[in-house]
Amino acid sequence: MCDCETGANRPGGMTRRQFIKSVIAAGVVSFSGSLFAGPAGAGPKATSGGVERLLTLNVNGQQRRVDVMPNETLAQTLRGKLGLTGLKIGCDRAECGACTVLIDDVPQYSCSLLTHSVRGRKILTVEGLARADGTLHPLQRGALEEQAFQCGYCAPGFLLATLGYLKTNPAPTRQELAHGISGNLCRCQDYDKILTGLMRGAAYMREG
Ligand code: FES
Ligand code: FES
Repeated sequence: MCDCETGANRPGGMTRRQFIKSVIAAGVVSFSGSLFAGPAGAGPKATSGGVERLLTLNVNGQQRRVDVMPNETLAQTLRGKLGLTGLKIGCDRAECGACTVLIDDVPQYSCSLLTHSVRGRKILTVEGLARADGTLHPLQRGALEEQAFQCGYCAPGFLLATLGYLKTNPAPTRQELAHGISGNLCRCQDYDKILTGLMRGAAYMREG
């Protein structure tokens, strides 16, 4: 018998809906390993040479001070040092989009950006989408209502890629949005449902 609703096999006994909501809202589910091949890279890689330097980063509207190695990627800093594990690492080489964040409202692969290069820029991660009172961002609401994601691992990247795209085209056709977020991959490959959820979210954003 399916245990989808009882949550018997979910972390903390969550139902599937609660499980996916937690991922869409803040990517808070901890996976036992990366769903993608390649390094899962939660923390900084071993380095040879160089010393950490104290930087101040603008993350989700807050000034965060953190010690950063010269060759440290933004994904490593955000996940490993600032605890923003909503950001996922899939390929760690600019191919899948799981690590997408907004830098000054533009989607970027954080696995391929040096943290030093984003000093003074505005960084947004999935944790910064919902309001402080827990109200979901319209894109999160649309994705959740349409049950757009299966495992949800790619969800934070898709949400931020979509938000960035909508800043350039607030009322896209389905085809335009598909093209706009084509830099993001889903291992579960239910792109149709993802697009339906994100289109609904885009409509919610236009409603204000
Ligand atoms: S982890 Fe795949 S693009 Fe960054
Ligand atoms: S990777 Fe599983 S829903 Fe996209």
